[in-house]
Amino acid sequence: MSREKTAAIRAAREAGKFLLGEFKKAPSAKKMKARHEIVTAADLKSEKIILSILKKEFPQHDFLSEEDGLTKNGGDCEHLWIVDPIDGTTNFFMRNPIFCVSIALARKGEIILGVIYSPVTRELYVAEKGKGAYLNGKRIRASKREKIKESILTFCHGSGAGYIRKSMDLFRDLRLKSLTLRQLGAAAIELGFVAAGRVESIMIPGARSWDVAAGILLVREAGGKVTDFEGEEWTLKSKDMLATNGKVHAELLRNIKKVLKK
Ligand code: IPD
Ligand code: CA
Repeated sequence: MSREKTAAIRAAREAGKFLLGEFKKAPSAKKMKARHEIVTAADLKSEKIILSILKKEFPQHDFLSEEDGLTKNGGDCEHLWIVDPIDGTTNFFMRNPIFCVSIALARKGEIILGVIYSPVTRELYVAEKGKGAYLNGKRIRASKREKIKESILTFCHGSGAGYIRKSMDLFRDLRLKSLTLRQLGAAAIELGFVAAGRVESIMIPGARSWDVAAGILLVREAGGKVTDFEGEEWTLKSKDMLATNGKVHAELLRNIKKVLKK
């Protein structure tokens, strides 16, 4: 196992253990970060746990973390760790177990490692570029469903009224065409579900890299596809994101383009 993978798994598990303890107690204090976004004391503590493990192991790397922002260490600028200390903070705060820790590593802008840990369900997703996607050590693959009318689609959105409106427009159109359309409230978990073949897709107008970087590699390594809404391969510079099992991608993209052009 690579040093990077070992460290990322250790950081995700240690933060997850802390979060599970907090989840079982009363919800931790919260602040409003923006109009539709909260941050809890647990986000900050979980971030501290993760960053202290990774920074000790890789002091020369750069780090981008949701609450702490970007730290450039000026040594090795090829490697960037992308961390979300809790993805699904609102779920965590309302004691809904769908939340996780998400840790990714990019080299020269390309995601090469993704680790997601869901502490309540004890599910650990791991992917390394070119080596497949795994859930609790077992190889996972995206589903084989080919039609959106037989598919379970998921969605979420970046913060900001424009992104929220776009996702509502997509919801209105696609709910009637699919088996169902759900917002689970944690993009990283929804990406893990696409990789594990539990749902067919997730779409996010205005995705933020800490929510999705690890999950994107999982979907790709599980045989799925991840693009922006124009159909270009998703990169860390992209905004909108569509991740699917690959089979429903073209049909979904056609619908998304039609809705957003109206
Ligand atoms: C949130 C989740 C959610 C999405 C929100 C994100 P956070 O991340 O990924 O699914 O709809 O836009 O902010 O804030 O809980 O890390
Ligand atoms: Ca978060």
